[in-house]
Amino acid sequence: ALYPVLATVAAYLLGSLSFAVIVTRLMGLSDPRTYGSKNPGATNVLRSGSPVAAVVTLLLDALKGWLPVALVLEFGRPHGLEDGCAASVGLAAFVGHLWPVFFRFAGGKGAATALGVLLGISGWLGLATAVAWLVVALVSRYSSLASLVAAAFAPVCYLLMGGAAPMAAAMGAMALLLAWRHRDNIRRLIAGKEARLGGRKAVR
Ligand code: G3P
Repeated sequence: ALYPVLATVAAYLLGSLSFAVIVTRLMGLSDPRTYGSKNPGATNVLRSGSPVAAVVTLLLDALKGWLPVALVLEFGRPHGLEDGCAASVGLAAFVGHLWPVFFRFAGGKGAATALGVLLGISGWLGLATAVAWLVVALVSRYSSLASLVAAAFAPVCYLLMGGAAPMAAAMGAMALLLAWRHRDNIRRLIAGKEARLGGRKAVR
């Protein structure tokens, strides 16, 4: 079938828009790939000292995960695009964020985009996962730990809600890829060297 393939490629291209880089460039801020964790993501943009740029990055990186999933679920069925296609476009947007074709395949860690995908699948699931992230972030002040816990929480929560198999599989894959992209964070967390949110010192 042609449509699911085209939709998946389009979602990958959309996911490849690294908004941390785009937003900071448009706002005349320095490139997040040059400071802090060097990660092109909202958390690291926050380390530049611009909460506005960080929030805009978070929203746009989430939007690019939400949009393809929401479009397929809203308008896809008459064209034969079912849950499997929604799962595939969500995963493709996420993969685009991690390995963006427009940025030499050097992308981010996927937390915001995964949250967008979850919101596209189910508003309640996205909300519950965002709350899980917030609770861990507020208690620990580690953005990475919050992302790791939330990514593991989502598929479990979704299955408990009686969710569909293709989406659950996509969520499991996102959680594994997200954890792998956070491997340096995991090492720093274990060593007690991870930078905390709102902390004065950025990681090296
Ligand atoms: O999702 C990104 C966040 O979990 C960690 O980002 O910049 O602290 O490595 P960073």
